[in-house]
Amino acid sequence: MTAEFEQVRERLAAARRVAVLTGAGVSAESGVPTFRGPDGLWRGFRAEELATPEAFAADPKRVWEWYDWRRGLIAACRPNPAHEALAALERRAGGGLTLVTQNVDGLHARAGSGDPVELHGNIWRVRCTACGRLAEDRRVPIPILPRCGACGGLLRPHIVWFGESLEAAVLERAVGAFESAEAALIVGTSGVVHPAASLAGLAKRAGAFVVEVNPEPTPYGGRVDVTLEGKAGEVLPRLVAA
Ligand code: OAD
Repeated sequence: MTAEFEQVRERLAAARRVAVLTGAGVSAESGVPTFRGPDGLWRGFRAEELATPEAFAADPKRVWEWYDWRRGLIAACRPNPAHEALAALERRAGGGLTLVTQNVDGLHARAGSGDPVELHGNIWRVRCTACGRLAEDRRVPIPILPRCGACGGLLRPHIVWFGESLEAAVLERAVGAFESAEAALIVGTSGVVHPAASLAGLAKRAGAFVVEVNPEPTPYGGRVDVTLEGKAGEVLPRLVAA
């Protein structure tokens, strides 16, 4: 074990408040495709053709078919050792850890994380475009087009699309956690989508020890205290091991 790795373990164990940000890379070893990179999820589509309010308004069937395909794919995936290590770290922190995720797959909660801050929503939740009602919906396949049980309006995925704002309360929780953290972990994210990408900088400016876990270089390089190069499912269990 390198001295750097040992230092990270000690800093994490000593921190009274820890903030964690995860991205698609944390679910990669579960079989959920990431967004960018060679096997990226956009499946030949451009993001702005599918994950935008304009795309949904123009062709809701096409957008729903894409989400239905992703829901089926995610339903077949299970949490991996990275999700499990973060849930273990949270239990050990006894209320001192906030897990913030950009992922919409729900795998952190399935691994036992108590109350993840889901910045970009959740693929298993739907929202009525007419009355705004939120509901959990785990049907795979989902009827296309799905309708609201209360008012009959068209449902949409409860996901933050490009061009939409994050929910204020959700963002506030994430910002608060990073501003008050003594240690922060940034795992499996390419660091190009804001405001999520700005959270590490908030923690750094407030004096936190910031660690990145990623097998590839990212824009975080040089702006964090330590980068542990490797897959989340291999690095995190070792970090958390007693
Ligand atoms: P990206 O697909 O942009 O980046 C995935 C990152 O995970 C890359 O930096 C990879 O190097 C890294 N990675 C790959 N395999 C890994 C592994 N086994 N362990 C650790 N890291 C690994 O995904 P995000 O940064 O999450 O937004 O993308 C941010 C947002 O862009 C998403 O939330 C999504 C997308 O548009 C919405 O859906 C609103």
